[in-house]
Amino acid sequence: MKYYFAPMEGITGYVFRNAHHACYPGIDKYFSPFIAPNSNTCMNSREKNDVLPEHNSSLVLIPQILTNRAGDFLRTLEELADCGYREVNLNLGCPSGTVVPKGKGSGFLAFPEKLDAFLEEVCRGAEMRGVRISIKTRLGLEEEQEFPALLEIYNRYPIKELIVHPRLRIDYYGYHPRMESFSYAVRESCAPVCYNGNLFSHSDLETFSRHFPDVEAVMLGRGLLASPGLCAASPGTEEEDRKTLRRFHDLIYEGYREISFGDKNVLFKMKEFWFFFIRRFAGGEKLLKKIRKAQRLSAYEAAVNAVFDSLRILDEADMTGLTGSALS
Ligand SMILES: Cc1cc2nc3c(=O)[nH]c(=O)nc-3n(C[C@H](O)[C@H](O)[C@H](O)COP(=O)(O)O)c2cc1C
Repeated sequence: MKYYFAPMEGITGYVFRNAHHACYPGIDKYFSPFIAPNSNTCMNSREKNDVLPEHNSSLVLIPQILTNRAGDFLRTLEELADCGYREVNLNLGCPSGTVVPKGKGSGFLAFPEKLDAFLEEVCRGAEMRGVRISIKTRLGLEEEQEFPALLEIYNRYPIKELIVHPRLRIDYYGYHPRMESFSYAVRESCAPVCYNGNLFSHSDLETFSRHFPDVEAVMLGRGLLASPGLCAASPGTEEEDRKTLRRFHDLIYEGYREISFGDKNVLFKMKEFWFFFIRRFAGGEKLLKKIRKAQRLSAYEAAVNAVFDSLRILDEADMTGLTGSALS
């Protein structure tokens, strides 16, 4: 099985990715949070910095682009090709209320004809630059019945890989992934299919492989934020596990402090990180509150030390409050 780290805007930037790769090798591809070009610029400085080859030299990164304009997509692809990238990913899944009304992300799925014309143009342009396009898609906006027509469009183009997050836009990240439609994608897609959605534990991974023995790649997001070692070799003893989790945290924290965008921003980023990471620690709610309340690095560090020094590490992260497992 190949394992991909899902793109997660605000969380899985290069500091995070490098820390993860150093502590938990075994991810075949990391996907960048989306780059959103506009008619003036392809990438802002944060986005450029995130995909710089020297910031990603030890891992495999696939940059992701979010747009519905072929010209903007191709100009960004060219810049990425100049950096050495040979695959870029198109975001057709983002459900956000600021993206969908603009007809981007999963909002693009409402315009199949426009999407068809877009893919024709970008696939032609990408081929000329020696770059392959992969797609990360939802099933549609409001009904699963939208998916067959979308898949028919994808099948017209030389898509490198189709990553299917089998939810609708209206599902956001809730409800069970719609596995019947995923089976349909596996049967009917010309491109290799990768599965994404609610793989949170070893048993989720095993169950998935049993149901879909022919699917060769899975993409994990929240599961890897909570259990960063989920796709890596066995964590060893609880103490070894704790040490690696601590090292992982410290590399991220030090990384944010080094790029020094101010203590406030460091705290903001670390608080986002802990929303998922705390789930590997038994009874972490009280200390999570302390982490969230911290206004200074010293208070933050005291709360984090208390987590690592006093809480038992769970074999599996407690993902309650997100959604049920994909296959139950
Ligand atoms: C905070 C957050 C940020 C995300 N950012 C992106 C993004 O930039 N691009 C994208 O394609 N998906 C994004 N996603 C969706 C994830 O990549 C993934 O599809 C989703 O979390 C479902 O997978 P999971 O159940 O393994 O977490 C984001 C999800 C979350 C929760």
